[in-house]
Amino acid sequence: MPLTLDDVSFSQAEQRLPLSKPFTLVVFGASGDLARRKLLPALCALDCDGQLPAGARILGFARSDMTDDSFRDEVRKSASLSCHGHKLGEQQWQDFSARLLYFRGQYDSVSDFRGLQQRIEDLARQSGQPANCLFYLATPPGAFAPIVRSLKASGLARGSGGKVEQAGPWSRIIVEKPFGRDLQSALDLNAEIRQCFAERQIFRIDHYLGKETVQNLMVLRFANSVFEPIWNHKYIDHVQVTVAETLGAEGRAGYYDKSGAVRDIVQNHMMHLLCMVAMEPPGSLDADAVRNEKVKVLRSLRRIEPHCAASSVVRGQYTAGLMDGRDVPGYRQLKGVGPDSMTETFVAFKAFVDNWRWSGVPFYFRTGKRLPERRTTISIHFRPVPQVLFNAPPTGPVAANVLAIRVQPNEGISMEFQVKVPGMAMRIQRLKMDFSHAEAFGAEPPEAYQRLLLDAALGDQTLFTRDDEVEEAWKFVSPILEGCAMQPGEKLAFYEAGTWGPKEAFDLIADDGNRWHVT
Ligand code: BG6
Repeated sequence: MPLTLDDVSFSQAEQRLPLSKPFTLVVFGASGDLARRKLLPALCALDCDGQLPAGARILGFARSDMTDDSFRDEVRKSASLSCHGHKLGEQQWQDFSARLLYFRGQYDSVSDFRGLQQRIEDLARQSGQPANCLFYLATPPGAFAPIVRSLKASGLARGSGGKVEQAGPWSRIIVEKPFGRDLQSALDLNAEIRQCFAERQIFRIDHYLGKETVQNLMVLRFANSVFEPIWNHKYIDHVQVTVAETLGAEGRAGYYDKSGAVRDIVQNHMMHLLCMVAMEPPGSLDADAVRNEKVKVLRSLRRIEPHCAASSVVRGQYTAGLMDGRDVPGYRQLKGVGPDSMTETFVAFKAFVDNWRWSGVPFYFRTGKRLPERRTTISIHFRPVPQVLFNAPPTGPVAANVLAIRVQPNEGISMEFQVKVPGMAMRIQRLKMDFSHAEAFGAEPPEAYQRLLLDAALGDQTLFTRDDEVEEAWKFVSPILEGCAMQPGEKLAFYEAGTWGPKEAFDLIADDGNRWHVT
């Protein structure tokens, strides 16, 4: 049932954020996968949309031997492959490439960082602009601490960040995930970064928060009076969160094998999705007001103690299988993965948010690689109606209402409800009212990195993770990891690539009389 909206007239210009002050964005790890596939195409798309201020420059920093020109050639290849819905014209490319520069250096070399500082200052002097700096750590996590130390020792980490610009140039730092590999390493990294940047200058990025549908959750919940009164344990039976990927770990097995699904997806993306669903209405849209509410959710999350982890968390790993008619190798057959690797590529568990709103409501989570579809959804399952009126045959039990939020792909929201089938008999059928982002707005939502890069340039931290948020998320996840590692032989359930994960994941939810939602 298509939804008719009568007020969706908006222009690209209306969607724009104000332009930030001119800045130099230093991308550490500029020759790496993340920079090539995501960051530089997102910056190029922003430029095509006129959302980068005149005087904004992108300075790639990496160990590879490149010049400004060879860096531009590399960027052009990635940007023309993927420029987020923009067809890159020659003039647009010329304009964007004029912003691109390259600096070769070692992450732990203070003298290289002094050279970088000199270059940034020279550029600022030539253009008559303040030397505002945005440092993006897009390297493997092992390089984060050395970079931060070099920024400090070279004097590049200075000025004031945050929303209120003070006189003089500012500097800010964007830190990619994974932020630590357990609670202790996250605490250490926070301490290291805080030695040279104030919290208001630190932007811990999780691209899930930049996704349009994740932001839309706040609007759905707090700009519609119908939902808030029923958004609690009195009306909601349970909540499901699925992050399913068709991709395997090919090409990044080196990283993935040391990480696994719990660290890669649960600690960050899934915890953010949970917070957006479960948080109380913030007092304002101010960054700290929103993040205060998110932290409260994480603090209320019932811990899964290490000795319970193996029995209450399903960890799986894919074996060889068939996907889209193609044979795909099992995880252990990948280059860079040992034949006896115990790394999980799938995880499912049940959690509880122990507060007044959510008391007793199970939240079921599952995520996995090499599943049959790429799909991230959150489904809110309302309590079933009392079965007194319509439970006689041929009707059977009446299905409960489900509000399903499609985070990706085919972004949108649907509500499942019951109607009478026309005819003499009282037959009931489940129907769906559907909002599709593409249908309503005629365009794909912007890429998450575009939004997040702009916000960081503007100093808006709302969609970035605060120090206590990242620590609380680890407090929930670390005991699970500990418990699974403690278990002799580490219980691991295998599933064939192209299936919806191991049987144990279905049992987990079936034991409560529920089943995974199919959109
Ligand atoms: C990343 C994970 O953070 O998110 C990847 O490291 C995963 O393993 C990716 O594939 C999923 O992002 P998206 O936007 O494709 O859902």
